[in-house]
Amino acid sequence: MAQGTRQRVIIGVLNGPNLNLLGTREPAIYGTATLADIMTHLEGVAGALGVQLRTAQSNSEGALIDILHEWRGVVDGVVVNAGAYTHTSLALRDAFSATAIPFVEVHLSNIHAREPERRHSMLASASIGMICGLGADGYEFGLRGLVRTLQQRQQPAARG
Ligand code: DQA
Repeated sequence: MAQGTRQRVIIGVLNGPNLNLLGTREPAIYGTATLADIMTHLEGVAGALGVQLRTAQSNSEGALIDILHEWRGVVDGVVVNAGAYTHTSLALRDAFSATAIPFVEVHLSNIHAREPERRHSMLASASIGMICGLGADGYEFGLRGLVRTLQQRQQPAARG
């Protein structure tokens, strides 16, 4: 899974627009945990899994794409909550395809139970999978699922 001589698996956690306001942003929908709270918890999970995290947040679509370009060859996979760019950004999906970084999509809210314009994800078709509607826990489940998938891909195919 790790590239070259690097042994430690590195996972990027990418957060998009308005997620820097978690904690005070529409708490009835997104909960009261701040992004820092969620990332701190995730660092603990990563430690237990024996993987290293890189985390980033931006409110700008171009900056998110630039971060993915920088993470090419650096991270083994990404957990992404692209916020509203989920529903609009073909460019972000192209960046995942162009960098060939495997990713799991996470949303705090159940985007399928909300307004029609939130029900489609531009990213989902290129993702390993998506977790939504489980609040902040979704990040942990996304990280665990991503690491498990990457490990399984590493294992040689069974003979027989
Ligand atoms: C979100 C869902 C999006 O529709 C919304 O634009 C967000 C947050 C979520 O985590 O539930 O910013 O990605």
